[in-house]
Amino acid sequence: MVSRLKIAVAYSGGLDTSVILKWLQEKYDAEVIAVTGDLGQKKELHGLEAKAKKTGATKVYIGDLRQSFVNDYIFPALKAGALYEHTYPMATSIGRPLLAKYLVEVARKENCSAVSHGCTGKGNDQVRFEAAVAALAPDLNVIAPLREWEFKSREDEIEYCERHGIPITATKLNPYSIDENLWGTSIECGVLEDPMVEPPEDAYQRTIAPKDAPDEATYVTIEFQLGVPVSFNGKPMSGVDLIEKLNEIAAANGVGRIDLVENRLVGIKSREIYEAPAAVTLHFAHRELERLTLEKEVAHYKAKIAHDYADLIYNGLWFSPLRCALDAFVNETQKVVNGLVRVKLYKGNVEIAGRTSPNSLYDTKLATYTDEDQFNHKASDGFITIYSLPVKTFYQVNKESAEIQPDIVPASGRPAS
Ligand code: ARG
Repeated sequence: MVSRLKIAVAYSGGLDTSVILKWLQEKYDAEVIAVTGDLGQKKELHGLEAKAKKTGATKVYIGDLRQSFVNDYIFPALKAGALYEHTYPMATSIGRPLLAKYLVEVARKENCSAVSHGCTGKGNDQVRFEAAVAALAPDLNVIAPLREWEFKSREDEIEYCERHGIPITATKLNPYSIDENLWGTSIECGVLEDPMVEPPEDAYQRTIAPKDAPDEATYVTIEFQLGVPVSFNGKPMSGVDLIEKLNEIAAANGVGRIDLVENRLVGIKSREIYEAPAAVTLHFAHRELERLTLEKEVAHYKAKIAHDYADLIYNGLWFSPLRCALDAFVNETQKVVNGLVRVKLYKGNVEIAGRTSPNSLYDTKLATYTDEDQFNHKASDGFITIYSLPVKTFYQVNKESAEIQPDIVPASGRPAS
């Protein structure tokens, strides 16, 4: 007897994944298991299990992945300084590999032969999901209904739900596509598709408008150990608690709003709004501490790695030997990233208010302009002579060629051309 196809489905309770649950049962005569990862997306988890069961799931898994999300995904990205296109802290992008990993774990436990997800066929998330599954469980099949089904619009899907009695509370009304977790919220669609349109206030889900933020600045002090935040205003906290606390305080000061036209892996330019109050604040504070503690060449080299690391996360290669190798580099640099950063949150801005570290390379005796100064000024003389020798030689040799002179008028004046 051929056993029935069993599929583990990444389920959020939103419109697409609700339709998927039913559609897979119909189309493949499959048994479906709903799998949801809690990455700190407070709203969506409410009533999820009942909803999935009502849609025909035989089992529902809701895994609390928050701690692993913070320690194994968010913090490595923070230490690396990974911001896609120098801007986006990648809440959505970093969550996908962890969700894929959990999906694979459930699929194994339940002896599923396939997994399925609700990512669109024109986005980055399908790549992240499937590249992760390919790395973790190459034998598992992946079904991506959004690439193959017949529905052309949300209306079609809503009509399908109504026909099948699938509960879809509120999805009808929301004009935006929203993905939310502990590290941030991504918002697109609706009026946001026009990059010339300023996001209306209702697009923002978790931050107060900077103009409505308190007139008094809020100061917070964050302590880092080995590049990771460990205490908040002097109080030791778990990563999850610290991020939650900071999300609250920074959001109340209008911090963390990002409006970005970005390059998707599939070649499309898309416009997305992000709200990442804690992520923006922590990246800022971490960078300030690195300015104080990293040796110059390491600091400059690490900026290049940050760029590559961000691309790698964004492009779905979290589970890859390159990411592991980059982590080894980053962790080596973070051995000295210890200390306190005091930041000022004020009407949408994060500013540095102070930093101190037992590993600080800032030496007042070298930096000062007072009579405490111990820098050897005379040593600069020989240094500059040798340092400038290449350019000096070049322009001496080529002094007759007007077209390659530097943009300085020589004492005798430029030869007339
Ligand atoms: N553009 C972001 C990324 O690729 C977020 C994608 C999901 N956005 C959304 N609003 N559902 O990481």
